[in-house]
Amino acid sequence: MNISNNSNNSPIGFFDSGVGGLTVLQKVKKLLPNESFIFYGDTAHVPYGEKSKEQLLEYSQNILNYFGECGCKAVVMACNTTSSVIYNDIKGKYDFKLYPVVQSVAHILADLPIKKIGIFATKATISSGAYRTEIARYNPEMQIFGQYCPHWVHIVENNTVNQKSSIEIIKNDLDMMLSKGPEKMVLGCTHYPYLLDVLSKFAPREMFIDPAIYLAEFIKHDLEQSGLLSDSKERFEKFYVSAAPAAFKNAAKMFYDLKDEPQLFTF
Ligand code: DGL
Repeated sequence: MNISNNSNNSPIGFFDSGVGGLTVLQKVKKLLPNESFIFYGDTAHVPYGEKSKEQLLEYSQNILNYFGECGCKAVVMACNTTSSVIYNDIKGKYDFKLYPVVQSVAHILADLPIKKIGIFATKATISSGAYRTEIARYNPEMQIFGQYCPHWVHIVENNTVNQKSSIEIIKNDLDMMLSKGPEKMVLGCTHYPYLLDVLSKFAPREMFIDPAIYLAEFIKHDLEQSGLLSDSKERFEKFYVSAAPAAFKNAAKMFYDLKDEPQLFTF
């Protein structure tokens, strides 16, 4: 693809370890229907939440370099784990805009009229303390506690959300979080919105926050301000994965009805 970076009709890249990133893409597409998108799901390396910083840097840099070659005007880190663990190491190194989920939404979470917030996230995101650090920059008074959910990403990728054993796991993790008394709970991994229907059986739906809603608004506003919104009538969408394209298409269904299986592409 020969599209020069930073022209307004260039595509926006999205990446995640798997189908989680589609929860973000879906919301961005709703707000920005004229944009072209390239999505990369690094399914060969899922779960990112169990990987080291060095591994996450290597995977992300490969993907970001590829998006650069594709001429992307912007890239959405549709993954809380890479945003939390490696964003600070790579920011400023690319000549396209970079939107990390955690850093882009922290000010909005910090402004919520509440005192206690719980964060559901992967092991790596919780250990990084990124949500705490970023929210505290704007609201040091807010009490923030995190909870690592070791099985949730597998449940989503394997599309077993409605199995009895999965529902039990989800309920147990939720109960543990609720025992700490949060006023709101952030779905701090882009896979977790797939579990919202199950979670809402055991706690009011309005207690859960999907940061992708705020991220999509932030991206729209920022592209508008930069004069980078697309005005093309000829938009496109391309999907790539590093493993298991059929499983990806199947697990994606709840958020994104892919016409075809994604293309297999590795670095
Ligand atoms: N969906 C990603 C996130 O937001 C990564 C989940 C994983 O692969 O562990 O953290």
